[in-house]
Amino acid sequence: VVKSEIDTAEEVVLAARPSGAPKERDFEFRKVAMPEPGHGQVLVRVLYLSLDPYMRGRMSEAKSYAPPVKIGSAMGGGAVGEVVRSNHKRFSPGDIVIGDMGWRSHAAVPAAALRRVDESQGPISYAVSVLGMPGMTAYFGLLEVGQPKAGDTVLVSAASGAVGSLVGQIAKIGGSRVVGTVGTPEKAAYCRDELGFDDVIDYRDCGDLDAALSKACPGGIDVYFENVGGPTGDAAMRHLALRARVVVCGFIAEYNLTESYVGPSHLRHILVNRASVHGILVTDWLDRWPGAIARMAAWLKSGHISFKEDTINGLEAAPAGLIGLLEGKNFGKVLVKVAER
Ligand SMILES: NC(=O)c1ccc[n+]([C@@H]2O[C@H](COP(=O)([O-])OP(=O)(O)OC[C@H]3O[C@@H](n4cnc5c(N)ncnc54)[C@H](OP(=O)(O)O)[C@@H]3O)[C@@H](O)[C@H]2O)c1
Repeated sequence: VVKSEIDTAEEVVLAARPSGAPKERDFEFRKVAMPEPGHGQVLVRVLYLSLDPYMRGRMSEAKSYAPPVKIGSAMGGGAVGEVVRSNHKRFSPGDIVIGDMGWRSHAAVPAAALRRVDESQGPISYAVSVLGMPGMTAYFGLLEVGQPKAGDTVLVSAASGAVGSLVGQIAKIGGSRVVGTVGTPEKAAYCRDELGFDDVIDYRDCGDLDAALSKACPGGIDVYFENVGGPTGDAAMRHLALRARVVVCGFIAEYNLTESYVGPSHLRHILVNRASVHGILVTDWLDRWPGAIARMAAWLKSGHISFKEDTINGLEAAPAGLIGLLEGKNFGKVLVKVAER
């Protein structure tokens, strides 16, 4: 057992429940005593923390698939870290692991809640990005629920982001025609030129979104991978093709709203096109993640998939990172580099 050299750790706690967009004052950065790993626990020094849109939901009390963060408690979050001390035979100091370490510099975590990172598959940060939760969301959401066939038109929103960029590239591997919606010209150029999307719509700049969708998806949309909701999601529903599949993954355009978003009813389009609409949760396929991660790693190695990370430095910057993510300021998967390896 190696004694940790420092006796204080850092964490970011939820200070207040935000109304609307979160503010910096809704978080508090503080120094705390170094956690002591108990029986069967492991002390992990966090290297990369993943920031994800679902964290906005955890800041609220509204019912969701996970309980809210308590006021005064550290924000939760997936992270990659290095084992510093271990009270479990499965892990030794120096091991690189992934788990829900939260917004912390160090965390004492039960060994059963940690997974060893296979460093041969890619940079260690990939364990919380393309080879982790967002990657698995794209993989299973698209292939299991969207079920695109060669020649299908697949539309994905938030197309340059962690999930969206992978949905588009996996659909391309399968021979679909891929169209994305994004919020800036730089994101549009990235999807078209670097990811090989067939067409991209900048929803902020295209004027009439319906006209843009008619042009980009002349035969209608066979698979819509919904990441944003709001007016973009509404427009997509008006362009569904017969027997379309709508994969409801998220609706980030609505997470900061103080009142429920009320758009037009989609039911008519679902009926007329005999479409199916299916909500997904990435952990529903947890038992199948290892195979999918191996397949994604192979696509990365063969160059069929590329991935962009948007890394910010220091745990103290995490609140600003999440606030920015919810406003579309990120370009790629948002990670906080908490410490050097
Ligand atoms: N169901 C699941 O299991 C699961 C798992 C992971 C993620 N998700 C969901 O998947 C979606 C994408 O997550 P991610 O981690 O990949 O994030 P991301 O796409 O990397 O980043 C979020 C992007 O959303 C777009 N956005 C933000 N505010 C918007 C608004 N008001 N209107 C339209 N677009 C907006 C922005 O891109 P633009 O600048 O292009 O608008 C922003 O860059 C989220 O809805 C998330 O909740 C669901």
